[in-house]
Amino acid sequence: MILGLETSCDETAAALITADGEILANVVSSQADLHASYGGVVPEVASRRHLELVTPVIREALDEAGASLEDVELVGVTAGPGLIGALLVGVAAAKAIAWARRLPLVPVDHLHGHVASLYLGPDSLDQSFLCLLASGGHTLLLDVQERGRPPRALGTTLDDAAGEAFDKGARLLGLGYPGGREIDRLARDGDPGAFDFPVARVPGLDFSFSGLKTALLYATRELSPPELERRRADLAASYQHAIVRALVGRVREAAHQTGARTIAVVGGVAANSELRTALSDAALAPLSLCTDNAAMIASAGRFAEAVPYPGYLGLDAYASR
Ligand code: KG4
Ligand code: ZN
Repeated sequence: MILGLETSCDETAAALITADGEILANVVSSQADLHASYGGVVPEVASRRHLELVTPVIREALDEAGASLEDVELVGVTAGPGLIGALLVGVAAAKAIAWARRLPLVPVDHLHGHVASLYLGPDSLDQSFLCLLASGGHTLLLDVQERGRPPRALGTTLDDAAGEAFDKGARLLGLGYPGGREIDRLARDGDPGAFDFPVARVPGLDFSFSGLKTALLYATRELSPPELERRRADLAASYQHAIVRALVGRVREAAHQTGARTIAVVGGVAANSELRTALSDAALAPLSLCTDNAAMIASAGRFAEAVPYPGYLGLDAYASR
């Protein structure tokens, strides 16, 4: 079985999967509460918390799978991109476990991990597809041909990521962190047509969300505090609707241009209920695998090159690609 570790941001996660993609355990310990009062992830706080959590989370995954370290044949770990201090905790833990048992170790790119969330379980995707990867750090349209081959980027964001737009919007609306889920929840009680927020028109297949965030800021400034309170759900629904419209519009254009027969959606924003409804014809990552987890990292580890013992001891993490 394969042990996956993920510590690139504020989730400490460990998972065990089989070589053919069955999930035996998938443990995610979110630090969101710890960072909430700062309105975002504090890198130094995240690193220290990963250090405390990584061993108990691995133990819990082994317990859940009814396994021991003796059963692990390969260790996969997120090597980047992400917060460097956070990544190093996972990489050091993976090295220690692999080295102690003379196992191979496979460094995994976090974004390939998100894509590989589609290769798990009975509904695993095996044809080529057009993939929307929308998370807190990235917004990408990817042409995915083969599992082992790095996907080709067709478009990306010119400024904020889609998840970042959700998080910043949530902050303007006085909602908690992380904001995507909060906006999603509040939007159910609001009218998506109440405010006319713009969808940025940028060339090619790229995205832009910073203008939208400014539009929300101005809309909130025009309202008195009690009025803002009363219209909060309408603002959330209209704002979410604009983000979803932008994402879906570009996905449809890209599908048209490339002739892709299958569309897939992965990453934290793939958990959004309006997006899931708007792209219900697409292969949607299962809800439990949208936000950061280690099952997707173990999954990607099956298709990336493993480094044999003990060559990985010098392996470094990378903050950006
Ligand atoms: O993939 P992920 O866990 O971490 C990164 O790799 O960035 O994505 C986290 C992002 C956050 O910005 C969060 O607000 C967003 O995913 N998110 C959502 C929802 N759940 C999480 N955005 C919209 N609707 C949701 N239901
Ligand atoms: Zn992620």
